[in-house]
Amino acid sequence: MKLWGGRFKGETNELVYQFNASISFDKRFYEQDIRGSLAHAEMLGHCGIITADEADRIKKGLTSILDDINAGRLEIDPTAEDIHSFVEAELTARIGDAGKKLHTGRSRNDQVATDMKLYTRDYIDTLDPALKALLTTICNIMAENTETFMPGFTHLQKAQPVTLAHHFGAYFEMFRRDRSRLADIRRRMNLCPLGSGALAGTTYPLDRELTAKLLDFDGPTLNSMDSVSDRDYLVELLSALSLIQMHLSRFSEEIIIWNTNEYRFIEIDDAYSTGSSIMPQKKNPDIAELVRGKTGRVYGALTSLLTTLKGIPLAYNKDMQEDKEMFFDAADTALACVHLFDGMLKSLRFNKQIMERSAAGGFTNATDAADYLVGKGVPFRDAHSIVGQLVLYCIDKNIALDDMSLEEFKAISPVFENDVYDAIAISTCVNKRNTIGAPGPEAMKRTIAAYRDYLDKQ
Ligand code: ARG
Repeated sequence: MKLWGGRFKGETNELVYQFNASISFDKRFYEQDIRGSLAHAEMLGHCGIITADEADRIKKGLTSILDDINAGRLEIDPTAEDIHSFVEAELTARIGDAGKKLHTGRSRNDQVATDMKLYTRDYIDTLDPALKALLTTICNIMAENTETFMPGFTHLQKAQPVTLAHHFGAYFEMFRRDRSRLADIRRRMNLCPLGSGALAGTTYPLDRELTAKLLDFDGPTLNSMDSVSDRDYLVELLSALSLIQMHLSRFSEEIIIWNTNEYRFIEIDDAYSTGSSIMPQKKNPDIAELVRGKTGRVYGALTSLLTTLKGIPLAYNKDMQEDKEMFFDAADTALACVHLFDGMLKSLRFNKQIMERSAAGGFTNATDAADYLVGKGVPFRDAHSIVGQLVLYCIDKNIALDDMSLEEFKAISPVFENDVYDAIAISTCVNKRNTIGAPGPEAMKRTIAAYRDYLDKQ
């Protein structure tokens, strides 16, 4: 059933009909569409715009449609123009003329704006617990690894020793910010556009406060032109999803590096890796690679929507229908990536000895050797230079600082004593770093307690 046949004499060109139709993708939010219509019908009845009996029949009809779609008894007609036309036609087929009154005081413009907001809100309420589960996994791994030493890197060069807990803690911070961004977006978008009509409100005495309340919005939107053309919240959400993907992608990159034959810091469980069709020895980190790869399509959706919106004059224009497909794709992608990444992390085995051995090589304790000299009264700049000479000496002999004899130390600076070995041991380097946010186990235990508290409360 067409919702707009009256002023037309000729038939729509078939290709035009197909090009214009959105049913293939907006059928996804049938539940939200029906939820919005239920609230609208109740409000119309409450305000006496339709009779209580009509409102009742509409609501029963809509509920039966929803139940039938959910139970697989009713197929959404793929030839309908969009989900709004489909539901209205089905309603009228079921309850007769009362069904034709549902659209009183409403346009598809405020209807689709409401549907998308309801869908987005539901999506955020699904993604947030998935992120929380990921944070819980990260926190658990941290708690088990406050004394798992590993090299910390800058420029992908070994820099100073840290712990696995500390390294994972950085990602805890990232995903925690992601959750707080989602909460911000949800709060800012939570105003109800329904009742804004096509663009200029309506002459019916609608109670927009009531509609908003019935749909769990914080209130109605205050400008009907903006209401039907605002897609800011989708741009914000795509931007938040892009950041989530960026964080997942960086984490993936580390997993991939740590999994290489050269590093062997981790092993990915068989359930989360795949093999090669030709090279029998291969076990590839495909999930991490795919998560990294899929980041591109989420960024693409953000760029696409921003570009679509930039030239649109007020108020609704059909360009806005283009907000859906790529948004749905990005939303599905991000949710799947968070779930899969969480599962993969849970499956990781850490080769703690290899990590610690790696932390001990590469002069990650050079700063601590300089600090040792400072502790003996040498100015830091001189200490830096002395340790530089030690490093050169060690590179030449292919040994670590810890492997030098006291005589060798003293040959470069007489300030060194036997206590240098303890001062530059990897465990000392890490354990002494206990300022807030540092990798020392004492500092880390406090941080982990704060993370647990956050996960309990939010
Ligand atoms: N399918 C449309 C969309 O997604 C629904 C709104 C149609 N409004 C209109 N005036 N044609 O945006």
